[in-house]
Amino acid sequence: MIREIVQVGDPVLRKKCEPVTRFDNDLCLLLDDMKETLKDAEGAGLAAPQVGVPIRAVVVDVEEGYFEFINPIFVWQKGEQYGAEGCLSVRGKAGDVRRPSKVKIVFQDRKGDRYSLVARDFFARAICHELDHLDGVLYTDKADHVRNAD
Ligand code: CO
Repeated sequence: MIREIVQVGDPVLRKKCEPVTRFDNDLCLLLDDMKETLKDAEGAGLAAPQVGVPIRAVVVDVEEGYFEFINPIFVWQKGEQYGAEGCLSVRGKAGDVRRPSKVKIVFQDRKGDRYSLVARDFFARAICHELDHLDGVLYTDKADHVRNAD
């Protein structure tokens, strides 16, 4: 089911999200809906608070594939990249943000199994952007200049 994407100004986007403790059917339904919502919106990533659920779960859809990260934590962040970002919760805007060029995260999947992953370039940027959402941070907080997207 496609869910409504919460827009900037809604306090749920500013919450520090709670860790996921139950890897149950409700979580699976949420993740399935987030996947469908992200594909429909043609975005690169979506965090649970963006559909109004303040828990630590994100989905990312990039060249490398489709990923679900539950309770993700950075192990390290290296290098630097500077480039344009947008957000499905900040419609019609874009801004340039400095991010690490390479990151390593640990996370759980929807069953609760633990994994680690190294990502670089745009994939790393998408992960940084989505993990920020879990701490109530929007890219517009970090962007030098937010402009109307073309
Ligand atoms: Co976003």
